[in-house]
Amino acid sequence: NELYAVVGNPISHSKSPRIHSLFASQTDEPLEYTAIQAPMDDFTGTIRHFFERGGKGLNVTVPFKEQAWTQAEHRTPRAEKAGAANTLYLDADDALVADNTDGVGLVRDLTRNHGVALKGLRILVLGAGGAVRGVLGPILAEAPASLTIANRTVAKAEALVRLFAGEAGDTALSACGFEQAAGAFDLVINGTSASLQGDLPPVPASILGGNTVVYDMMYSLQTTTFNRWAQDNGATRVFDGLGMLVEQAAESFYVWRGVRPETAPVIDELRND
Ligand code: ATR
Repeated sequence: NELYAVVGNPISHSKSPRIHSLFASQTDEPLEYTAIQAPMDDFTGTIRHFFERGGKGLNVTVPFKEQAWTQAEHRTPRAEKAGAANTLYLDADDALVADNTDGVGLVRDLTRNHGVALKGLRILVLGAGGAVRGVLGPILAEAPASLTIANRTVAKAEALVRLFAGEAGDTALSACGFEQAAGAFDLVINGTSASLQGDLPPVPASILGGNTVVYDMMYSLQTTTFNRWAQDNGATRVFDGLGMLVEQAAESFYVWRGVRPETAPVIDELRND
């Protein structure tokens, strides 16, 4: 069997080994996928050791995605723009390549699994950290009417607007603070890590209209803090990031193996765990 793994710290709760095992049995691909906890101060040594042992590919998660991007000798265009990598492998010359499948994972979950086409939508993204930077390129590629980035630190949202201005096409791209997010949006995506502290970004409830779709990039067994707030304020179409997690995994699997697993049965199975 060929060896793959996810690297993070902590890593024990990662769902990636289960997702990739389900993909492997579904597609009959001969792979084994484990979880590796890298010491906080030795991500580099951990991945070097993995590939020296003959490992074929890695997923990278918190807090090492930026380091994975820095370490790589080559980056795919989507990883280059994302500034972070969740997927690593060696090319034919044994050079380390970084890719990022998070953004296509989000867009596929929205468009295919939830039936939300992004073209022409007014989109509000909350947050301006690494997770948001990773998904902006694929969102803009769908040609929404507008994309507003709201963040606690407005300067970081403004920096992302400058970084992605060249990819905006006809999309109106802008930045603001949470309190300044105004008017109802068609789609609100929470990409802050506020819910990890049980916090809510202080956006006005008027961002939610009757048909607003709400997407929290986080997932948890219970409804996320942000999605509960949205439901309490009238939102009816509310999704969490479990589908994104499975879709980014499927895209990584495709990058490594050239085979596309079916995601719907895997999402169902994880939801029922
Ligand atoms: P990630 O990789 O999850 O994106 P990050 O790069 O540290 O992590 O970014 C975290 C994001 O969540 C940022 O947008 C951050 O806001 P700031 O840029 O102002 O720091 C946001 N965030 C974190 N905790 C928050 C909280 N309690 N309330 C609101 N926003 C929060």
